[in-house]
Amino acid sequence: MKILNLFAGVGGNRKLWKGHQITAVEIEPKLCKVYARFNPEDTIICGDAMEYLKSNYHKFDMVWASPPCQSHSRMNYANKRATEENRCPMLLDCIKFLQTHFKGIFVVENVRPYYEFEILPSYIIGRHCFWSNKYIHFVPESYPVSGIFKECTLKGKRILQDKYDIHFDDKIYLSAHNPAQVMRNCVDPLIGQFILNQITNS
Ligand SMILES: C[S@@+](CC[C@H](N)C(=O)[O-])C[C@H]1O[C@@H](n2cnc3c(N)ncnc32)[C@H](O)[C@@H]1O
Repeated sequence: MKILNLFAGVGGNRKLWKGHQITAVEIEPKLCKVYARFNPEDTIICGDAMEYLKSNYHKFDMVWASPPCQSHSRMNYANKRATEENRCPMLLDCIKFLQTHFKGIFVVENVRPYYEFEILPSYIIGRHCFWSNKYIHFVPESYPVSGIFKECTLKGKRILQDKYDIHFDDKIYLSAHNPAQVMRNCVDPLIGQFILNQITNS
């Protein structure tokens, strides 16, 4: 399949995908570099994901999108870093655009928000909500999912790097309060693999 991997980060959801032609879009140049190191065979666009999606969606069989979740997360809401005023519109824009225009399969991933869902997710796995036009048969008892990971330290970064087997030392956000941020943003590669397998095997 030709897959468009939007808001690609370091490529957590994509890590275990094999045999597909993948184009990734990520806005942060340092993350593009790390992603390229792990996935040299992918086409990597360092730029705005929504802009790329709107001009290129018709070239792909499947779109995966993980828009930034900081302004939706329950943890940031509790810390007062997520507010009604700073809520990022990209999640809703992305779901609505794909629902309206895209003829292939789409999966939009985000964390459980602190507010009532504006569009109900198609399914929820662990801390992730998914909006999709493809049914996934998910039996919670059969699949290891972790809950919210609260460790916001260098140690937390290392724990997640070991868990996902995604290791890098590049300093991405120099002023970030949370050294584990990039890894906390990462989708568990096993979940990315599970969903793609379900889609391709059904
Ligand atoms: C939740 S993370 C994605 C994690 C990724 N799916 C993974 O599993 O590793 C969201 C990413 O979107 C990127 N981003 C934020 N705004 C963007 C934009 N307008 N266009 C492209 N990427 C963007 C951030 O730099 C961040 O890496």
